[in-house]
Amino acid sequence: MVNIELPDEAATRRLGERLGQLMAPGDFVLLTGDLGAGKTTLVQGLARGLDIPDPVVSPTFALVHELAGRVPLRHLDLYRLTGPDLEHLGAEEWFEPDAAVAVEWAERLGPFRPAEHLEIHLASAATGRQASLVATGERARALLQALAPDAGRHGDGDGGAT
Ligand SMILES: Nc1ncnc2c1ncn2[C@@H]1O[C@H](COP(=O)(O)OP(=O)(O)OP(=O)(O)O)[C@@H](O)[C@H]1O
Ligand SMILES: [Mg+2]
Repeated sequence: MVNIELPDEAATRRLGERLGQLMAPGDFVLLTGDLGAGKTTLVQGLARGLDIPDPVVSPTFALVHELAGRVPLRHLDLYRLTGPDLEHLGAEEWFEPDAAVAVEWAERLGPFRPAEHLEIHLASAATGRQASLVATGERARALLQALAPDAGRHGDGDGGAT
């Protein structure tokens, strides 16, 4: 796990933007954290990094927004989701590798959670927020390494990048 301090909103955006600059179709970013943790703010940064001109608003009612950019971004928000009925909503298509995908409230994906992904958990900190990043799979590990190149120096990469 790599922890990154985000002292203010601009830092959350910047982390998203740096990640967006690196993202390619088929990359999955799973965002977790309480109400107001900064998930949408981070996706706004992702969109900037992907050269997406449209504003990013939370797709709370639509569940999914598709945005055109250098790479298309599929932005999901599962907050309103009740029950494990994602299959009736076409969840399989959400994870087709034709776009970069960012999911708010990703803990609600259940069995639809993609095997390989970069998970970013946002939590309140004394000042601002702390992001905790966990990469699963080779591609996600490469993204995390590029985002936080100093984090792997102590064995398994615990801590660092703060
Ligand atoms: N690092 C930070 N430090 C302080 N405030 C922040 C930080 N990052 C984001 N915020 C602020 O937190 C508030 C909530 O942000 P945001 O809407 O992105 O959260 P969210 O996790 O998407 O919320 P929801 O659960 O409702 O979808 C916003 O006012 C945003 O500016
Ligand atoms: Mg949100």
